Amino acid sequence: MSDTVVHVLNGPNLNLLGTREPGIYGTTTLADIEALCRDTAALHQLDIVFHQTNHEGELVDMIHAARGALGVVLNAGAYTHTSVALRDAISAAGTPTVEVHLSNVFAREPFRHHSYLSPVAKGVICGFGAQGYVLAIAALAASRKVVP
Ligand code: DQA
Repeated sequence: MSDTVVHVLNGPNLNLLGTREPGIYGTTTLADIEALCRDTAALHQLDIVFHQTNHEGELVDMIHAARGALGVVLNAGAYTHTSVALRDAISAAGTPTVEVHLSNVFAREPFRHHSYLSPVAKGVICGFGAQGYVLAIAALAASRKVVP
């Protein structure tokens, strides 16, 4: 068990944040988001494992590797809308997983309105940009708090 660790996992094309469609995603880079996550985790006395991959199977492996952690913050990018494999990985791992999107996917194209992941996620945050990661880590931290 590593219940002081949160795994922040990022899927395809998120390595291009900062220059990728700035009108939608802003100019915050993934390195900025990682720094924000590390600061937020420190505030809550948690540790962060932070990864990005463009490959679906690697995301499956990363979700498996997070078994026993306090939680996963997952921005699966476009795989959100396509991947039964990621949904099954979340269910199989059993680690509380917060689905995060920078943009408000419901204000965008209809194909982004459906998520294979939401039904097995602990919660979903979208539309708040990088702050969504902060909110997700805070929510997982709150789930750990014990009554004295
Ligand atoms: C995204 C939304 C997805 O629809 C899209 O494919 C992404 C990014 C977001 O963070 O807003 O790659 O997950």
